Amino acid sequence: MQRILITGANGQIGSELLPELRRRYGEEQVVAAFHKRLPDRELLDSGPHYFVDVRDADKVRQIVREFRIDSIFHLAALLSAVAEKHPQLAWDVNINGLLNVLETARSQCCAVFFPSSIGAFGPQTPAVDTPQDTIQRPTTIYGVSKVSGELLCDYYQHRYGVDTRGVRFPGLISYRTPPGGGTTDYAVEIFHAALTEGRYQCFLRPDTRLDMMYMPDALQAMLCLMEADASRLRHRNASNITAMSFTPEKIAAEIQKHLPDFSITYKVDPLRQAIADSWPQHMDDSCARQEWGWRPDFDLPKMVQDMLEKLAQRLQQEQHDGLDKD
Ligand code: SER
Repeated sequence: MQRILITGANGQIGSELLPELRRRYGEEQVVAAFHKRLPDRELLDSGPHYFVDVRDADKVRQIVREFRIDSIFHLAALLSAVAEKHPQLAWDVNINGLLNVLETARSQCCAVFFPSSIGAFGPQTPAVDTPQDTIQRPTTIYGVSKVSGELLCDYYQHRYGVDTRGVRFPGLISYRTPPGGGTTDYAVEIFHAALTEGRYQCFLRPDTRLDMMYMPDALQAMLCLMEADASRLRHRNASNITAMSFTPEKIAAEIQKHLPDFSITYKVDPLRQAIADSWPQHMDDSCARQEWGWRPDFDLPKMVQDMLEKLAQRLQQEQHDGLDKD
């Protein structure tokens, strides 16, 4: 990887991957494709960027040619809950956007990273120790787009030789940019609520177990996979990876170890509960461990401690910046 394009660069993953790649590869070597929402100044000023709708194939190709991009991290997509409210739009963005990226990669000789998800599984999939190769019959449009995306990426690899790689991410937890529109978002919201209100109303049942991961591990996974020796990859699209598996009541108890007065209540959202109930509780990620050396650093206690510290600093900074503007 030398010259990189990130789509969805102001999303939850992109806003953290962008500074990390610019730090490693140089500011001018990493081009950000933002969509609609204005990113914060820090991201906006940190290097070359465009505002792009990934459904605009000409624009995507033009940027890749102009910057002689060799690797694309294609992160622009609608998440599960918002996709369920706008299924046709979700298909259009998640699939036609990916097709545009793959076509550009084919004609311009780029490698592509595509994030799949626990959402690529469905109610018929074994929920515990979910195997790498198993039944994939998701019941959400998000999941349908992720399975189709995995297949499309594999197709471009064997049909055209495009170097496509991907992982099945679990719910991602981070403090920089909120996820927006996902089913696992509660595991981020809970930290904001704990620090600002001292209480949180969760939209999933207390015993809903799902795979999760802290953002530093997610970044490490993407880079490790993209830099791995291709001959070792038996599964390109996409490897199961996980770092921890917990329920809302378990994460609440872990937060209470640091903030004893924190309390949680539950008001179940039927849409997101049904989505969560159709997803794995704990994936088997041994293939990723064997094929490209995947190993997470953060378990639940370590993540909660770091997240509370870093988010508190960030909230303080935002308050400080807000006061300066007044
Ligand atoms: N975090 C995503 C969502 O909840 C799953 O990949 O939609």
